[in-house]
Amino acid sequence: MLFDEKVYLHIPGPSPVPPQVQRAMARPMIGHRSGDFSKLVARLGEEAKKLFRTAGDVLTLTGSGTAGMEACVAGVVSPGDEVLVLVSGVFGERWAKIAQAYGAKVTRLDTRWGTPIDPHQVAVKLAENPRFKAVFATQNETSTTVQNDIAAIGAYVAKTEAVFVVDCVSSLGGADFRMDEWQVDLAVAGSQKCLMLPPGLALVAVSPKAWKAIEGTRSSRFYLDLVAYRDSLAKATTPYTPAVSLYFGLEAALALLFEEGLENSFRRHDLMKRMVRRAIRALGLSLLAEDAWASPTVTGVWAPEGLNPDDFRARIKKRYGVVLAGGQKDLTGKIFRIGHMGYTSPYDLLGVVAAVELGLKESGYPASFGTGVAAAQAELFDSLDVAAGKEG
Ligand SMILES: Cc1ncc(COP(=O)(O)O)c(C=O)c1O
Repeated sequence: MLFDEKVYLHIPGPSPVPPQVQRAMARPMIGHRSGDFSKLVARLGEEAKKLFRTAGDVLTLTGSGTAGMEACVAGVVSPGDEVLVLVSGVFGERWAKIAQAYGAKVTRLDTRWGTPIDPHQVAVKLAENPRFKAVFATQNETSTTVQNDIAAIGAYVAKTEAVFVVDCVSSLGGADFRMDEWQVDLAVAGSQKCLMLPPGLALVAVSPKAWKAIEGTRSSRFYLDLVAYRDSLAKATTPYTPAVSLYFGLEAALALLFEEGLENSFRRHDLMKRMVRRAIRALGLSLLAEDAWASPTVTGVWAPEGLNPDDFRARIKKRYGVVLAGGQKDLTGKIFRIGHMGYTSPYDLLGVVAAVELGLKESGYPASFGTGVAAAQAELFDSLDVAAGKEG
């Protein structure tokens, strides 16, 4: 059918892939032990440091973001170790589950879904128990559309022996992240979010403090042993056969991201967040997260009374090709989420908001056409230099 392949993908990953990246991935295959591939591995190892803002090692694993998370746990958790896990949603819970699978004694600090972790409460937990081997956090909790304050938490963890492990899977490249300045010891990102690639790569950045911990850990590990990746990277290679095409894509994606400039990418994501939030409010709907901690890459919206958000999503997907995400776990059937990450332009969101208006109207919700779109346009216009009188 004509429009079968015309998809407006606005879930929080996988996200759309730029044509430049698609073309790079379509290159003919090369051997992963070839000189050309080694040069690529060496180049990417250096380029990726800029992304994490670290002088430490950045390792690339062929696997999804969860593989990177598991590699971090396997690296720092020996059976019986005590760890603190900050849980603000599904992905914080994932840290807890992986740590348990590796035999850790897990202490959780939970927050109400839709709100961030309070750094002061982290300080209290750390003061109560000096034995924590690691603290696990999530920068951008995709499930609750909340951003946690990693810099503030990092300042407390740095005063202890614990290794600070951060999931920045759905934020790296789209939201400010400063591994060294924020005293993060292990950070993990996934290819299919703000990095504009298909799923399949996990990037793990490692500080000297983390390496010290990793060398003393007694967990069973093999494919996910970060030491093997470090030793291979030192020789400009990978321990096992990597996803070669995704490496081609990563080089193209990083070139695009650095050409835009990381700060500009953060600004673009922040603008998209503001456009969506202003539109949703103008439509009389409620947002899941408050402005102060709202995610710049995904926005959660409470379904209004009487609207089944999953039927609503299915309708606008079928009619307009606009794909939104639903709620996870406790939020299933209660919210819908609009992803605005990676290869997404502010202008794209005008179409998304228009589809939301059409879908609401068709579902019987009293939406007046153009209200949300006008609000998003106004936010976009306000951000233009011309609107600030700087141009023309
Ligand atoms: C914040 C966060 N952490 C971890 C993951 C898990 O990554 P993957 O699905 O690539 O294993 C996701 C995926 O959505 C995520 O959003």
